[in-house]
Amino acid sequence: MSKTVRVAVTGAAGQVAYSMLARLASGEVFGPDVKVRLQLLEITPALGALEGVAMELDDCGFATLDGVDVSDDPLKAFDGVNWALLVGAAPRKQGMERKDLLGLNGKIFVGQGQALARRAASDVRVLIVGNPCNTNCLVAYKNGKDIPHDRWSAMTRLDHNRAVSALAKKAGVPNGAVSNVTIWGNHSNTQFPDFTNAKIGGKPATESITDRAWLEATFVPAVQTRGAAVIKARGLSSALSAANGAIDHVKTWLAGTAAGDWTSSAVISKGEYGVPAGLVFGYPCTTTNGSPWQVVEGLKHDAFGKERLKITLTELLEEQDAVKELLPS
Ligand code: NAI
Repeated sequence: MSKTVRVAVTGAAGQVAYSMLARLASGEVFGPDVKVRLQLLEITPALGALEGVAMELDDCGFATLDGVDVSDDPLKAFDGVNWALLVGAAPRKQGMERKDLLGLNGKIFVGQGQALARRAASDVRVLIVGNPCNTNCLVAYKNGKDIPHDRWSAMTRLDHNRAVSALAKKAGVPNGAVSNVTIWGNHSNTQFPDFTNAKIGGKPATESITDRAWLEATFVPAVQTRGAAVIKARGLSSALSAANGAIDHVKTWLAGTAAGDWTSSAVISKGEYGVPAGLVFGYPCTTTNGSPWQVVEGLKHDAFGKERLKITLTELLEEQDAVKELLPS
């Protein structure tokens, strides 16, 4: 074993991290010949619980695990990291407006963006999972600008996987037959899970699923609100599938997207599809062997799709406005 990859995970005592950490340590993501050093960040009151998680990771006895560091200081947790998976965020409490949550979390991501820029390795790649993840990513990127813009991403992969599964079920095909799905815009219930450009068995999904009313009125809202449906059923949020989305995001970033296909990632817009440059927007993205995400250009939207894109863009602009004091020019 020659190489060691340093991976920071924030919110590491939380539910999503709990379903993610063993998979990061096990060799599944970085391969059997790469050692993984986990650098875990939590808020001070959660450090005791985090020590327990670290004990469990030790007890897995992974040959690929180089060690686990635990800290409540972002400068320590981000020291030399090649990957930063920012999962930790303040939860929305009763009576709290969305705007309040944006401001509260925004402040966390000011400090974490700055700390990453100061301490991370020069090849660092960042995934923001903690919600509202697009705008948290915007805040971290604007405050961590020494890190190139194409290293930042926010997670829409869970929504992507949900959309793949829902289309496959409806068409009666395996998940692997569904490709070219995109989650456009915000990771929120304004996102547009795009069935119009999706394929099933290499052909337009709309040829297999001809019930347009189902696609518009059942599929789209079901994907948009799937998180709430899981909470209702399970009594807890969708931590396992969220962790899986993050693992898939990193694996695809490392291995590349399949030829002719793409995945969904929210990235810093360069103005593609009329989105103002600088906004963190969910796009169809490709990558090869760890290269930066490339937005797939030239896809067409019908009137339904154009309207959905407008709605999610408007929401993201409102979110940007709500955190404008936290965005250095
Ligand atoms: P959780 O509440 O179980 O864990 C969050 C952890 O973050 C807590 O342990 C908390 O102490 C920690 N934390 C809070 N502030 C922190 C800070 N400044 N630095 C480091 N850690 C901090 O929540 P869970 O279920 O693990 O979810 C984590 C986040 O992921 C939430 O914001 C959730 O909304 C988001 N999420 C995003 C998804 C996506 O698709 N983008 C899907 C599912 C969850």
